[in-house]
Amino acid sequence: MYRLARTAFFQLDPEHAHDVAIQNFSRITGTPLECIYRQRLPPRPVQVMGLHFKNPVGLAAGLDKNAQCLDVLGGMGFGHVEVGTVTPLAQDGNDKPRVFRLLQAEGLINRMGFNNQGVDVLVENVKKSKYEGIIGINIGKNKQTPIEYGKDDYLICMDKVYDHAGYIALNISSPNTPDLRSLQYGEALDDLLSSLKQRQKELATVRGKYVPLALKIAPDMSEEELVQISDALVRHKMDGVIATNTTLDRALVDGMPYAHEVGGLSGRPLQNKSTEVIALLHKELKGAMPIIGVGGIDSVMAAKEKIQAGAKLIQLYTGFIYHGPGLLKKIVRNI
Ligand SMILES: Cc1cc2nc3c(=O)[nH]c(=O)nc-3n(C[C@H](O)[C@H](O)[C@H](O)COP(=O)(O)O)c2cc1C
Repeated sequence: MYRLARTAFFQLDPEHAHDVAIQNFSRITGTPLECIYRQRLPPRPVQVMGLHFKNPVGLAAGLDKNAQCLDVLGGMGFGHVEVGTVTPLAQDGNDKPRVFRLLQAEGLINRMGFNNQGVDVLVENVKKSKYEGIIGINIGKNKQTPIEYGKDDYLICMDKVYDHAGYIALNISSPNTPDLRSLQYGEALDDLLSSLKQRQKELATVRGKYVPLALKIAPDMSEEELVQISDALVRHKMDGVIATNTTLDRALVDGMPYAHEVGGLSGRPLQNKSTEVIALLHKELKGAMPIIGVGGIDSVMAAKEKIQAGAKLIQLYTGFIYHGPGLLKKIVRNI
């Protein structure tokens, strides 16, 4: 069934297809037609970051940027859904077109640039949802905020989403916001993590609830840089790490249509690279915090490879676009 739907959706521009799917799925929620996407999955409970997940497979950030279709995604059986990236103020993102399909490689290139309706709208949508799984809220900075004040945007978002999140993901690894990835290194990283951990401590006391903080990192780092990030993650007692975001590397798609487009590449061409990052983090972190593995998961085998490399939870995005909810079902059944 998904194959048929995919043929229709793939006639449309990728972003338009995404918008049409979200609108239509949301429209049929609560009607008998929701059987089109609703599926029953066997329980595969896991405890990660002190949270109870009904299964280890989640939806990666970026698909439901404004938390508009949590109930639909819950109906498909995702154990967690990471909504966002959300920024303090609404912003349009980059000019369209900004998403491209690399069909031959089952990849996508996107340069969305954090288009979202702002953190207040996201929080209202989360409050309205009936989703019973874990909601991760992925936060970022507005494009217009100079990078040296980027930390303030994360703090604004953190204050606003804290009460509504199962965990909070800090996105400092999107390639589509100028200079954002510079926050992954040295003093900038230390400053960001120490401020956010301090705020987490204050909020936990005042609000009577501890919300774990996970850092989402890029795959385009040297081994030495990954060792340094691991060290910072341990020093700041982060609760988790999400590996990885999209890549700037085009080696595996060279010469294919759209391969030259600016943006982050996801899907199958990212699969091994992100698994290597997870394996290295696993070695360096020595169990100090859980790893959430994401990047090119398109089969049960690819999901198992991420778990064998050290991931405690996994997330889907591009594989879900190419293979539909059936991929989630197959993975949950077989892990
Ligand atoms: C169209 C698109 C938009 C994305 N937007 C975000 C985002 O807003 N925040 C984020 O942290 N990651 C974002 N990502 C990255 C995904 O969450 C994921 O880390 C990456 O695509 C690798 O997983 P995949 O190969 O399964 O797609 C986006 C990816 C795509 C394809």
